[in-house]
Amino acid sequence: MFTYAVIGFGARGRKYSAFLKERGAKLTAVCDCDEAVFSVARKDYGLEERRLFVSAEEFFAAGKLADLLIVSTTDRAHTAPAVQGMRLGYDILLEKPIATSREECELIERTAQQTRRRVIVCHVLRYSPFFRKIRELIGSGAFGRVVTINHTENVGYWHFAHSFVRGNWRNESESTFMLLAKCCHDLDILVYLIGADCSSVSSMGALSWFYPGNPEKGADFCFECGKKDCPYNAEKFYLANPLWVKVPALPQAGREEFIRNWINRRENPYARCVYACDNDVVDHQIVDMQFENGATAHLTLTAFTKDFYRNVKVCMEKGVIEGDMRDKTLRVCHFGQEEEIVDLSGSFSDAHGGGDARLIDDVCEIMEGRKAFSETSVSASMQSHKIAFAAEESRKSGGELKKV
Ligand SMILES: NC(=O)c1ccc[n+]([C@@H]2O[C@H](COP(=O)([O-])OP(=O)(O)OC[C@H]3O[C@@H](n4cnc5c(N)ncnc54)[C@H](O)[C@@H]3O)[C@@H](O)[C@H]2O)c1
Repeated sequence: MFTYAVIGFGARGRKYSAFLKERGAKLTAVCDCDEAVFSVARKDYGLEERRLFVSAEEFFAAGKLADLLIVSTTDRAHTAPAVQGMRLGYDILLEKPIATSREECELIERTAQQTRRRVIVCHVLRYSPFFRKIRELIGSGAFGRVVTINHTENVGYWHFAHSFVRGNWRNESESTFMLLAKCCHDLDILVYLIGADCSSVSSMGALSWFYPGNPEKGADFCFECGKKDCPYNAEKFYLANPLWVKVPALPQAGREEFIRNWINRRENPYARCVYACDNDVVDHQIVDMQFENGATAHLTLTAFTKDFYRNVKVCMEKGVIEGDMRDKTLRVCHFGQEEEIVDLSGSFSDAHGGGDARLIDDVCEIMEGRKAFSETSVSASMQSHKIAFAAEESRKSGGELKKV
């Protein structure tokens, strides 16, 4: 059994904590600048007041309080706690993105090497049975080499509105650019499947629909707007999707009234009209990539889809694999033979196609000494981030080819 502490006890910090608790690990301290989240730490984990910290300074001044530190603060607040944590002797479970600049990513990688601490990056898709199976099929050698991959991150119009127009990741100066925030996962999967570094990229994209002044706008807040059929009506969305209500814990009783009170307030950023927010991240972007082993890949990121899912098509010398995470199946064709359907529905579970839970299984294997390395170490994860930084430079220069 090992112990862990969490800095950033939001949605991700609480999710990983729940998985770790189920597997017998013990939460010993929580640090979060929002005291509202402490109620969960007290109630579900029995933490005493002296183990709840509102500032990172106080938390680190208390010394090393666990074996593992989960860094699940918001995007711009990863570097300082990760570096301080390693220097204090913690192994780190680090939420993606590693950090929001090349320099900070490199600092985290360097510190991991200098302190010899393990840093496991939460690139959960690598742990999903869906991508694991594709990699296993590629690795079998039966289809020859990967020639090209087409991959799409379908964000979903409602999910985009929640997270990237009204929510945490809407504004680059507060979080980071869209490709790094959302697609470091997808870029990492392309590197994982192709098995080589990327040499150059070209990218295009923009914010085309969710802008202030869009003629679709009715009022500044949904509760003041007469357009009740708007697909982005906040009250309708959160009443129908209570798990997306951004509070530490939803009450069981009186839930509907609670949500109505929460969403019909001017102070709530999620009450805003999607055409009256301070968002600036792109709602669509494409990236073309050349890999060092000759393979090419194309990534499309788009807000404009009904569902939130990923689909991929891996074209190889002797066959093709097509997969859509909604179907939980892969269509595998060895040229000249019957197509085979690989049913993965038995191994899918809630988040990221089962990747979240399996990442935590891996963390337990490592922390309990049964495994030495993580496949999502900071060094393994750097390549996806380098691609994202180069692609964003390319997008800003109108698609110019950039070296990674
Ligand atoms: N691996 C994945 O698939 C995945 C999915 C969603 C989010 N994320 C990443 O996880 C991280 C957290 O996202 P979330 O959805 O849990 O957000 P969240 O807003 O629910 O939680 C973040 C928490 O960090 C706290 N916080 C922020 N700055 C802090 C600081 N300096 N010190 C202490 N506490 C601080 C906030 O008060 C909040 O409680 C982000 O970096 C995000 O990009 C990863």
